[in-house]
Parts: sequence; C-alpha cells; structure tokens
Amino acid sequence: MKKKIGILTGGGDCPGLNAVIRAVAKKLILEQGAEIIGIKDGYEGLVRNNYRKLSYQDVCGILTLGGTILGTSNVANPYRYACKKGDKTEMKDISQKVLKNIKSLNIDGLVCIGGDGTLAIAYQLYKDGAPIVGVPKTIDNDIRGTDITFGFNSAVTIATEGIDRIHTTAQSHHRIMIIELMGRNAGWIALHAGIAGGGDIILLPEIPYGLDVIAAVVKERYKRGKRFSIIVLSEGSKPKGGSVVVQRFVKESTIQARLGGVGFMLGEQLEKYTGLETRTVVMGHLQRGGSPTAFDRILATQLGTKAALMIEKGEFGYMAAVKGNKLVSVSLEKVAKGPKTVAEKHPLICSALSIGTSFGS
Ligand code: F6P
Repeated sequence: MKKKIGILTGGGDCPGLNAVIRAVAKKLILEQGAEIIGIKDGYEGLVRNNYRKLSYQDVCGILTLGGTILGTSNVANPYRYACKKGDKTEMKDISQKVLKNIKSLNIDGLVCIGGDGTLAIAYQLYKDGAPIVGVPKTIDNDIRGTDITFGFNSAVTIATEGIDRIHTTAQSHHRIMIIELMGRNAGWIALHAGIAGGGDIILLPEIPYGLDVIAAVVKERYKRGKRFSIIVLSEGSKPKGGSVVVQRFVKESTIQARLGGVGFMLGEQLEKYTGLETRTVVMGHLQRGGSPTAFDRILATQLGTKAALMIEKGEFGYMAAVKGNKLVSVSLEKVAKGPKTVAEKHPLICSALSIGTSFGS
C-alpha cells in the first residue's frame, strides 16, 4: 500500500525550511513511492483542513528559497486556539477536532518542522494519538536534545555581516555602537555573532549586565586609544536585578512576549553615563530572511532525510537531531521540557573572556 505522509511548518519562518520539505518529500517519493501532502500555515491548516498535494516537481528548485512554501503560523495552537465570539476572543481547546481532521487525512505519518512551541504541541498531539516526527527549526538554536538547529548558521552569518558593517561607522565616528540581535531568552546568536564580529562587549540573557561594568570597559578602551566600542546584545538581555524589555504581547501565541528594545534602553543610559555618543541598530527579522547558508542547506537536508527515515521506521513521538557528528532521534518528551540556554561556563564564553571580551558582569 502506498504511504501517505503530511508535512507542516510551524512558528516563525527560518532559512532552510524549504530544504527540509524538499528532503523529506524527495526521499519518501523516491524510495517509497509515497504520496506527500503539505499542510498549509502550520497547525492552522490542521484546524481548517487546508492542505495541498506535493509532487516531486513541487519540491524541486526550493533548496535555496527562504521562508516556507507551505506558509506558517505562530499563533495557531489546537490546545489553546483563539475563537472569536462577537468582539470577544476566547481561548479554547479544539484538539479533538484537529485529531479528527488528522485521521480524516488518512496519513501514515506527519512531519512537524518547528521550534520549541511547535514541537511542544507536536508532543501533545502525539500523546493524543497522532503519528508525529519532529524536525528542529529555529534561528535561536534553543531546542533541547539537539546540538544545533537549521537556520541558526544563516542568522549568525547575517548578524556577523551586520556587525562588520557597523564596525566601520563606529571606528570613523568614534561611537559606541550597540547591535541588538534576536534569540528570545537564549543568547546563542549574540554569542556566536558577537565572537565572529569581534564584539568588545557581548550581552546575553543568561548573564545579567551591570551598566557600570559596561561603562568601565568602554572608558578603558578609550584610554587605550580605542575611541569606539561594539556592543553585541541579545534581545533577551537584562540588567542585574532587572527584567527583559517586551516589545509587544501576542496573546494568541503559545510564547506570548515578543522581546525587543533593550538596545535602545541601554544606549540611552550608556550615553548619559559615559558622555560618549551611542547609537543602536536592531537587526530584527533580517536575521530570519532570505536564502539559507550552505551549512544550513546541508543540515536541513540531513535532518529532512533523517526524519523521512524515522517515518519509514514508525519512530513516532521522536525528533531528528544532531549529537556530535551523528544524526540521532530524541524523544519529543525531552524536547518539550523547555528551551536550551547558554551555560555561564560555556567554552565559547571562556575563550572570549580569555581574549579580553567583556560579558558585562
Ligand atoms: O524564534 C525566532 C524569533 O525570530 C525570535 O528570535 C524572536 O524573538 C521572535 O521569533 C520574533 O517573533 P515575531 O516574528 O513573531 O516577531
């Protein structure tokens, strides 16, 4: 019997999503003659039974394409779904309807490609009977159970290029330049791009900063003839004893707070404290857009083919992952335990400290 497999992409878009869709579909079509359907707009497509068939031709030529050909949603959660009643919105559990819809699709497996929010929902759906395999996606690199996620390398590459460009203005104008990067409550992007871009001060959510410490580093550099400083900070960074800066709340979303703005706050405070001209640049969604790097294309292809293999073997309730230089499967239960953050004694932090980089603490 010909197998029928569904694929969905959930959460924020990310370079490499199409490369995974391509890899899963091509392997299953070529090796199993499987029929592939693409669920549109993440879990929203399961709520509305909105999907399309994906032929071999449909997944050709998408390896280098950013975003997702299936569309995505970072608010649709079957266990907490926003239902409108007049002008009021009620959050309802409509998972039974979604599970019924999955059944009616007659699929033998469903590949859910997403970040921690999407994969936590995938785990719940799996526990409720859906045949799900996960693939870890996020520029934030904060998914438990895998060393790395696809999208991260692309984001770090874009952010590093941004820091390089900011460097020239910082140097020419003798300014403090602050570059705010994404990553939510994990500092992976800022840590990697900060080191790759030669940041003088790197601020991470995991290490609360002191304004006085940052000011002292900047002034010391000034004394040594370095009349500029580059501060790379993660959007989830916070001062000692303080809290994160929230840009907006998306109340329908599984993870409701959208962070952003700490760079401007710090810039204003630092300019007052030091008397040195300070400017802030927020890299924002540029980090998520466009074509994946060669590294991410390869990683996405590997994770996609691993997920296809797991579907063939019926390894449901698991996620394709990377451990060392091996592709492995880890249980979605482990993944759903929350984000993976940067350890304070991470080797990259130690080596950056040893060359004089400050982490603001
Ligand atoms: O998880 C990816 C990410 O880009 C985070 O780094 C960022 O905090 C968030 O998504 C932004 O979400 P949105 O696109 O909803 O503003």
